[in-house]
Amino acid sequence: MAKRLHIKTYGCQMNEYDSSRMADILVPLGYETTDNPKDADLVILNTCHIREKAAEKVYSEIGRLRLMKDHRQQNGEEMMIAIGGCVAQAQGEEIMRRAPAVDMVFGPQSYQALPELIEKAKLAKNNKPSARPVAMDFASQDKFDRLPAQTSQNGVSAFLTIQEGCDKFCTLCVVPYTRGAEHSRPVSEIIAEARRLVAAGAADITLLGQNVNAYAGDDGSGQPARLGELMTQLADLDGLSRIRYTTSHPRDVDDALIAAHGDIEKIMPYLHLPVQSGSDRILEAMNRKHTADDYRAIVARLRAARPDLALSSDFIVGFPGETDRDFDHTMDLVRDITYAQAYSFKYSPRPGTPAAELTDQVAEDVKTRRLSILQDELRLQQNAFNEATVGKVLPVLFEKPGRHEGQWVGRSPYMQAVAVDGAAAAGASAGMEAQVEITGLHAISLAGRLVSSVDTDREAVAS
Ligand code: 5AD
Ligand code: SF4
Repeated sequence: MAKRLHIKTYGCQMNEYDSSRMADILVPLGYETTDNPKDADLVILNTCHIREKAAEKVYSEIGRLRLMKDHRQQNGEEMMIAIGGCVAQAQGEEIMRRAPAVDMVFGPQSYQALPELIEKAKLAKNNKPSARPVAMDFASQDKFDRLPAQTSQNGVSAFLTIQEGCDKFCTLCVVPYTRGAEHSRPVSEIIAEARRLVAAGAADITLLGQNVNAYAGDDGSGQPARLGELMTQLADLDGLSRIRYTTSHPRDVDDALIAAHGDIEKIMPYLHLPVQSGSDRILEAMNRKHTADDYRAIVARLRAARPDLALSSDFIVGFPGETDRDFDHTMDLVRDITYAQAYSFKYSPRPGTPAAELTDQVAEDVKTRRLSILQDELRLQQNAFNEATVGKVLPVLFEKPGRHEGQWVGRSPYMQAVAVDGAAAAGASAGMEAQVEITGLHAISLAGRLVSSVDTDREAVAS
């Protein structure tokens, strides 16, 4: 009988990609995924350590799983509990000490070893608890070399990790410690993986990396290829209609990348470019190595290359030493740039990072007040952006049938969900694109009507 696997994923898209690859590795071992942890022979928590709240969730989830594990054991069934991801990397030994129900722990660069870890964990059950396996090597390329072909991603949108790790050491961030040093996969390997994803139905691929535009993978001749060059090659793939990338750093936006936004139609005009703060003093204390005006200038150049570019960003309020004046600079920047969407957080001190040691931490109520002011502005901008799409004609990439008869739902270039009545009759199916006039705004989606025939080229390619 097939064994059942339940993976719960926290945090970023990189973790989502990793979770899908963990499922791929476990297919040859006879594991099928289930949405219900109660049915699972193996539960993996793929964890996030970026903020305290995210990390805390892990322990409460382990508590819930322990009860399920006991219950299964009473019924003569097993449940192995595995903790992967960035909390595992940062606190693996502590998890093992605090949570005897956990059978194994592995970091984000070690999950290729899952089959061996499962074997070791089984042996440990009959042995002493200290033998439970803990895998925390930073073996980035070895991981990719050992992963089997992808089978678990088969939607219209897919993720593809091209780069991992971070050498930037922003003083607030745990990523350089949990994900390790920057590593880029070779171009040929990425193209091969993209081909497989397209063959499995993907038409919109998001290239992932903690610092995705620091990409410098081997171009086949031993030279590093930059992100603009990689995307130029990917754009040649038939059947791939949309390319995105995340998360990028302002410091690594080079001329070729800006030019690629102007030259390559398939690169979507929607960019997540975190700035964190609009205050030069705070940016310096964060070790961002760019000023607010550097960021403004980069955005201006990107918009000159691609006038329909919309932006998204990450912001942190209440970094140590942040004054009202610093915060005002952040608000000025937000109003200057205008965002289609953004994420914003209260600064959360992370153990082992330099900023956590600073003495001028900002009071919680001040962080709360600033966050709400910032989020009010960002919400207004997001609503204004969505409202401005009404009346426009946008290409929509269909994903699935909608709730109404004959309706299909797809995505605009800006990731907005668009419900299109009558699309089925016009031949819509997953992965096809059509020009759609946006006619209205619902709570979490847009309504549209077809103004072109559905492009059936993709089907011709796939067959
Ligand atoms: N506190 C709050 N937010 C953080 N981020 C990173 N570290 C912290 C922290 N210590 C945010 C940054 C980053 C996003 C992924 O998480 O804005 O871009
Ligand atoms: Fe963290 Fe800074 Fe690296 Fe982003 S660039 S992952 S915020 S250290």
